[in-house]
Amino acid sequence: MSVAPIGIFDSGIGGITIYKEIHRLLPYENTIYLADSKNAPYGGKGKNKIIEYSVKNTEFLLRNGCKLIVVACNTASTNAVKYLREHYDVPFIRVQPAIKPAALNSKTKTVGILATIGTLKSKLLYETSQRFAQEVTVVEQVGEGLVNLIESGKTNSAKMTELLNKYLQPMLAENIDQLVLGCTHYPFLIPQIKEIVGEKINILDSGEAIARQTKVILKQENLLNNSHSKVQRKFYTNGNRAVLQYFLDTFEENLEAEKIEF
Ligand code: DGL
Repeated sequence: MSVAPIGIFDSGIGGITIYKEIHRLLPYENTIYLADSKNAPYGGKGKNKIIEYSVKNTEFLLRNGCKLIVVACNTASTNAVKYLREHYDVPFIRVQPAIKPAALNSKTKTVGILATIGTLKSKLLYETSQRFAQEVTVVEQVGEGLVNLIESGKTNSAKMTELLNKYLQPMLAENIDQLVLGCTHYPFLIPQIKEIVGEKINILDSGEAIARQTKVILKQENLLNNSHSKVQRKFYTNGNRAVLQYFLDTFEENLEAEKIEF
């Protein structure tokens, strides 16, 4: 069982930012990445639809023998992980915006969070803010349109710069010193975000924390892959293969995106 792959899914290619950290920390683990880009973004779709997509993704990964599933999507994590845990036996790891470290680090006592509407409206985010961010002001901003632009390969477009300016300038005016990226697609925008907010704002995403949590659970469940043979890494998308390939190429050579129907 320990040689079985870790399954990772997202509404699209954003979860690759989580995949990267998992592979960095757990280089001997086989992995299957599934991008449901055909249905991205999940953000405005409503809880039932998000559960339906998450079930479909989970069943695909289980059919392919996965021993653990990382829900590398904030929107699916906040809306569907409870349902998945109740209906399937494998361990699920969920992502969560890094509100807690942001609140602890903030000197201005004001943190910004950029996320999809589905995440910002969720009960989980509300509870996390109540628990960890009582002492700070949380400035929320919906990143309307950002996922669509990334999914269509327009990360470096004029439209992207326009939207980022529109979303980030009001946060700067509120004196944030921490910016939480509450969507796994957004770390792909860090260079563009830094051009707007400068170096003084601390940008937080969840990749490393999720990778650490994945390791803890694999260890606890006795599922770590102890064989050090060459790993198998699969990357599937039901959307545009070239876009997934582009983002894979940004961090490693020789990874191959495959287009499938599911
Ligand atoms: N990567 C997803 C997330 O982290 C994208 C958002 C969506 O599909 O709504 O929430």
